[in-house]
Amino acid sequence: MDLYLDTAEVSEIRELAAWGVLSGVTTNPSLVAKSGRSQAEVIQEITSIVPGPISAEVLSTEPQGMIAEGRKLAKIADNVVVKVPLIPSGLEACSVLASEGVNVNVTLCFSANQAILAAQAGAWCVSPFIGRLDDINEDGMQTVRDIVEVYRVQGYATRVLAASIRHSNHVTQAALAGADIATMPAKVLRMMVKHPLTEQGLEKFLADYRKSQEEAEA
Ligand code: G3P
Repeated sequence: MDLYLDTAEVSEIRELAAWGVLSGVTTNPSLVAKSGRSQAEVIQEITSIVPGPISAEVLSTEPQGMIAEGRKLAKIADNVVVKVPLIPSGLEACSVLASEGVNVNVTLCFSANQAILAAQAGAWCVSPFIGRLDDINEDGMQTVRDIVEVYRVQGYATRVLAASIRHSNHVTQAALAGADIATMPAKVLRMMVKHPLTEQGLEKFLADYRKSQEEAEA
């Protein structure tokens, strides 16, 4: 499963890309707004930091506007993936953009039925939102499992990108469910590396070594 960062904050992308575990980045209009920068500028910069797929979302809600925006976003860099919402006009835009060779991420997916439509429209990936389903007392991870299974049974090439990940257990569960990609905030990637036994173990290794050196020198 590939790991993506879900952020438009360039400083944290730079810092975490250095770990060598990131395959891409996703953004959405809320995240770009939080960065306080224009979408074109921020996406351009991210594409120069991370060579993998970088999702940038259209703002228009009618097909022609989405298609025009999508074409413009795709021109920013070869690794831009155009994100469109899972609404009828988004499916229409996805079909057109995909037929032109643009990779499309169909976002705001909350059901296996919606995911089937995204695959039929030629999406490069579909983004089921786990946390937002959990928020309304539904089982977000079950939706990911259902989509993975439907795509496997039907032989769809569309990737499953687990989104709206809120904690590190979501990442483990998405991997077990067979998601192709998990996108997460920087906070969750930092949670993944942490384990108290790793920290305690390292502290003890270093303390033991220091002690043996001090004893040898005494
Ligand atoms: O980028 C889409 C998604 O990951 C948003 O997550 O936490 O705002 O539901 P969240």
